This record gives sequence, structure tokens and C-alpha cells, in this order.
Amino acid sequence: MIKVGVVGATGYAGEEVIKILINHKGVEITELSAVIDKEEPISSIFPVFKGRLDLICHKPDAQKMAKNIDLVFLALPHKVSMEIAPVFLKAGKLVVDLSADYRLDPGVYKVWYGVEHKDTANLPQAVYGLPELYHDEIKKAKLIANPGCYPTSAILGVAPAAREGIIDKNSIIIDSKSGVTGAGRKPDLALSFGEVNENLKAYKVNEHQHKPEINRILSLVAGSAIDVVFTPHLIPMNRGILSTIYMKLNKKIDTKAAVDLYKKFYKGKPFVKVYDEGKLPQIKDVVFTNFCDIGVKVTGDTLIVIACIDNLKKGAAGQAVQNMNIMAGFDETEGLM
Ligand SMILES: NC(=O)c1ccc[n+]([C@@H]2O[C@H](COP(=O)([O-])OP(=O)(O)OC[C@H]3O[C@@H](n4cnc5c(N)ncnc54)[C@H](OP(=O)(O)O)[C@@H]3O)[C@@H](O)[C@H]2O)c1
Repeated sequence: MIKVGVVGATGYAGEEVIKILINHKGVEITELSAVIDKEEPISSIFPVFKGRLDLICHKPDAQKMAKNIDLVFLALPHKVSMEIAPVFLKAGKLVVDLSADYRLDPGVYKVWYGVEHKDTANLPQAVYGLPELYHDEIKKAKLIANPGCYPTSAILGVAPAAREGIIDKNSIIIDSKSGVTGAGRKPDLALSFGEVNENLKAYKVNEHQHKPEINRILSLVAGSAIDVVFTPHLIPMNRGILSTIYMKLNKKIDTKAAVDLYKKFYKGKPFVKVYDEGKLPQIKDVVFTNFCDIGVKVTGDTLIVIACIDNLKKGAAGQAVQNMNIMAGFDETEGLM
């Protein structure tokens, strides 16, 4: 049994981590914190936990929390985790960070997040928390950079084609649609019902902060530089991401061969489902699950891939627990099926 803490427990991702851990056989939740006015039971903040978890959610105090946990989930906004993670790492604790603070090189981070990185000392030991690509590295890691939600769907959608070298690496176009919870729980006019409902909009066209993260990992997978075109869209749903990815093929293959290639690449990976030829995933097939469902089609010399996830599960909290399972030696699927 390991003792686990959640910092940022009152946010969407923090709440989701708690929901999963409550039913996890190998974990005891011993600490919760967030920026709150009054310290109170988490079940007063989220009645869904009433009678299941009445632990007090405290104001942030990493030093104190570190004395009572083995592993901590940082479900914090960007630019905050890099101030808090060093305290836990110095105390010899395992850290799974859900923010972007440990996903990029410091120079790239400064360009896209607008501030100097405050923890360049620990950055080199951060492992990118995508188990389908980095399972063995995650097993030995002390610090996990949990992937962003859009990058999870985009990278899982492109990796087999990039690794097998069947595509023109400069032809990748990623068109993603996300539900509103992807932006967090803080009040924002642009995310209000009146603005989002019965609407669909593109935003940060090819300049979203997840683009460098997608480029970094796909370049590592392909073994040469990749620069994708990435357009995120906001859709009037709570949860879910659907990414449609277009890639030019550099060799002649048909849909069956492409489906087989993807199925072979993800063989044995418990949370990726590659659909049979002619079948395509929908968001409702993955919400409230930790699955990434993938559909593949070849038309002419174009490979089209549809990748669907739940932004709060495989895109955040579920993947974070999947990483904890691998770090702590539990079954990778514990608490997630
Ligand atoms: N939402 C998603 O789908 C998703 C997907 C992938 C990754 N992520 C990442 O996961 C992280 C959390 O996302 P979220 O959607 O849960 O955001 P959120 O709803 O805005 O929650 C942020 C949480 O952090 C707390 N917090 C803020 N500053 C803090 C500090 N200095 N010390 C302690 N707690 C602090 C907030 O407390 P108060 O609310 O009380 O201020 C809140 O509990 C972000 O980095 C996000 O990018 C989210």
C-alpha cells in the first residue's frame, strides 16, 4: 500500500485523480491541498465523495505534505508545479506532474509559456509519461511529466506511421476538438455556457502551447525533426477530444495494411484500441474511460487517422494513475478498467 497526495485537489484533474484512487486497491489517499479560503473535508467541496472520502483539503504546504506521502500528483496550473515539485523530489518522494512544467526544454518552455523555467535542475530527470512509448523509462522514474490532453491523442495517432517511416514527416496536419473541461475549472467568459453552447470554434491556430510538445515527442519517435500543423477547436461538450490527423504517405499501402501496422504497434498496450477497417471511433466510445480509440483510413496517397480520448482520463488523471501504477509496480490497469 502506498500513501498518495494530490495538490490542486479542487480542480477538474485533481477531482478526477481522487475519483480513480478511491477505488484503487494499492493506494491510501493521505493528503489533499489546494488554494482554498477555508480548510474543509473534500466531500464538502465535492459531495460525490460524501461517505467515501472525508479527508480535509488543506492549504498548500509541500514540506508538511511530503512527510505523509510516498507519491504526489501535482494537478496544478502551468508555472506553479516547478515551484513545488523540487520540495517533494528533495524529500525523496515520487512526483507525477499533470502540468506542462516538465514536458519541454527550458528554452522552448520560455518561448511558449512566457517565463523562465524555475527548476532546470530536475528537468533532465523528467520522463514523458506516455506509457505506450516510454513504459520502461517510467518504471525507473522519480519525476513524470504527464502529457497534455491534445498531445496524447495526436502523438498516439501519428506515432506508428512516424516510427515505421511511411509518411512525409512535413505533411502532418492535426485538427483536434475538445470539450470545455480541457481548460480547467477557473471561471472564464469564453468558457461560459452562453459562449460555448451551440457553437464550435477554432482557436490558437497553429500557435497552441501543445504544438512544441507534439513536435518534440514525434521527432524523437521518427528520429528526425517533425513540425506539425495543429489546430485546436472548442466544442460544446464537457469531456472528450477527437483528433483528425492527415498525413501524406511516402509509399503505396491500403487501409488494411495501415490498420494492421497500427494494431501491431499497439499490441499488448492495454489502453489503445485500433478499430477494424471501415470502423471509426467517436467521443462517446471513450468518455469516462482511460482508452484511446483509433480509426485508420487510406484514401489516395493520404493516411487519415481519427484518435479519441477523454481529456480528463487518458488525457490527464487516468494516464497519471497509469504512470503511478508502472512506477509503483502495480498492474498497469489497476483502478482504470
Ligand atoms: N483539464 C484537463 O483536461 C487537463 C488535461 C491535461 C492536463 N491538464 C493539466 O492539469 C493541470 C490541472 O488542470 P485542471 O483542469 O484541473 O485545472 P483547474 O481546474 O484550474 O485546477 C487547478 C487546481 O490547482 C489549484 N491551485 C492553483 N494554484 C495553486 C497553488 N499555488 N498551490 C496549490 N494549489 C493550487 C487550484 O485551486 P483553486 O481552484 O482553489 O484555485 C485548483 O485546485 C493543469 O496544468 C492542466 O494543464 C488538464
